[in-house]
Amino acid sequence: MDEIDRKRVAALSEAQQEQFRNRTGASAATYQRALKVMPNGVPSSFQTNDPWPVYLERGQGSRVWDVDGNEYVDFHNGFGVMCIGHANPDVGAAVKARIDEGTHFAAPTEGSIAVATELQRRFGLPQWRFTNSGTESTMDAVHLARGATGRDVILKIEGSYHGHHDTVMVSVYPPLEALGARDDPVSVPYGGGIPTAFTELTRAVPFNDAEALASVFEKIGEQVAGLIMEPAMMNINIIPPRPGYLDRVRELTTQYGVKLIFDEVKTGCTISSGGATARFGVVPDMITLAKASCGGYPGGSIGMSDELAAIVADGTVSQYGTFNGNPLVMAAAEAALTTVLTDDVYERFEATNRSLLDGCRQIIDAHGLPAHTEGLGAKGCVVFSAERLYEYRDYLTKVDAELSRLAWLYHMNHGIFMTPGTEEEWTLSIAHSDEDRQRYLDAFEAFAADVTRS
Ligand SMILES: Cc1ncc(COP(=O)(O)O)c(C=O)c1O
Repeated sequence: MDEIDRKRVAALSEAQQEQFRNRTGASAATYQRALKVMPNGVPSSFQTNDPWPVYLERGQGSRVWDVDGNEYVDFHNGFGVMCIGHANPDVGAAVKARIDEGTHFAAPTEGSIAVATELQRRFGLPQWRFTNSGTESTMDAVHLARGATGRDVILKIEGSYHGHHDTVMVSVYPPLEALGARDDPVSVPYGGGIPTAFTELTRAVPFNDAEALASVFEKIGEQVAGLIMEPAMMNINIIPPRPGYLDRVRELTTQYGVKLIFDEVKTGCTISSGGATARFGVVPDMITLAKASCGGYPGGSIGMSDELAAIVADGTVSQYGTFNGNPLVMAAAEAALTTVLTDDVYERFEATNRSLLDGCRQIIDAHGLPAHTEGLGAKGCVVFSAERLYEYRDYLTKVDAELSRLAWLYHMNHGIFMTPGTEEEWTLSIAHSDEDRQRYLDAFEAFAADVTRS
């Protein structure tokens, strides 16, 4: 990292930012209108961007177009939702047919049985309920863990995001100075509005360290209702589990009577047909899904053991929602899961991803960039750290935020729509072609060559 010329990076950042501004004049004007009606001019704070967000108009297959008419190959894919490609005709036909039959009843329809059956087949958990987002899925899973155990404390992994309800808005992206000891991290609320009482009930542990978990269990195991975790971390770049880690987590949670929740909002339906659960072969008590599982529509689900299903069925734990299992969302989910994202598609994702990751790796090596690649299924990223990451503290101290931001600008200015920030990854869709992959590599090559030119 020392060889990187920081003055050059600053100059390139300025030049790319200028190019970005010039390309996105209509977005700038839209931003001014949007500011009058939405904080930061966006529907969700994850969509903010400096100097303004890129407002999109439409998408088709692997492409999206912004309000300036710029065409991009979409590797952002709606934060990992659109594995089916934009305006997918099979999902579109299923949704259109459903529209003509009525779109909402708040009564069960055939679609929910079809989707639950498919999720059972893919993920192996016997019982499923539906929600409207990843946040609702993880919220219901936390209720279930607490209701099943009669305990209040929830453990989560330091540096993980599980949505925006109170219990999990703790130790999401805490700053370095707030972390506390690695084996006893401080519980840090993620923004205002989270009561201290809730923050104190959520405790963080480092990822990829089963012995740290064991020592927390030794101290407070009897108070812990559940451990919620992404089996492979996907909100601080991608951090896969070390071999054997998830098995040990499963053993420990079973030993202490703690419900294990795999938050597969990102990994589910993207890294294999049965997500991380099938890929790593460790079965949790609950799985939370959303994003890619519902064909581009706002929905989610929770998979659960028979024991947990029983306390939903008898009303011990309340699992509710007017729109849960909405027929339109179920039509999209059924078509996406059974017609589009069939099991063989995951082999294709794996192969396409491998060639994209290999291409990035060759560019990294050729230019001596302090970076490496990570990828699983449809998900991949260049991590701007020479060393691999194993947990959040590595991410905080090793990832070069300046290079990450500059790479993003190069991608956007070269027609690659990418997730902003240092923490995200790309998501492939069935629509990505060899040409699309090459466009990504060309943008990355331009970045790498400029950054390292002497
Ligand atoms: C792992 C994980 N869990 C939960 C959520 C929350 O999902 P949603 O934004 O649908 O509420 C996200 C969102 O990015 C996520 O990445």
